Amino acid sequence: MTMGKNRLDFDRKALIQAAIDNLDHSYAPYSKFHVSAAVLMDSGRIYTGVNVENASYPAGICAERNAIFHAIGCGEKRIKAIAIVGGANGEIRDYCPPCGICRQVMREFCDPSEMLVIMAKSVTDYKEATLEELLPDSFGPNMVPGTSAV
Ligand code: THU
Repeated sequence: MTMGKNRLDFDRKALIQAAIDNLDHSYAPYSKFHVSAAVLMDSGRIYTGVNVENASYPAGICAERNAIFHAIGCGEKRIKAIAIVGGANGEIRDYCPPCGICRQVMREFCDPSEMLVIMAKSVTDYKEATLEELLPDSFGPNMVPGTSAV
């Protein structure tokens, strides 16, 4: 993967491919909507996550949060970009946008004007937006007095 000086300059194909490669691990027996995410951290490392559902429906979690929590749990601090793929029965037919809760979790660990959300159908067919575009006027760690958040 070639990393340039510009934050926008990274290997999107590799990030999208990591999400596509892991889609099979999605556990979605209830909705049958399978999602996979690959998050690129400032370190240059990529972490993956899938949606994991539960018989007690609200106990399930989205792919994006699983990927982000995985990265944070491994000592990572800041998100550079996330690629998301998914669809009914695991077939990627459309762009899969992140839900509102996942957007808020992303907000905690990035600069929203720089972090990129990549919604992909394939490594060559994708849409991208900054988190700020997807979550304007967001509530972040800076709003909480005395926070020790980074
Ligand atoms: N899902 C995700 O994993 N990410 C999203 O951003 C949207 C929804 C999952 C949750 C649930 O397992 C399934 O898709 C249907 O909502």
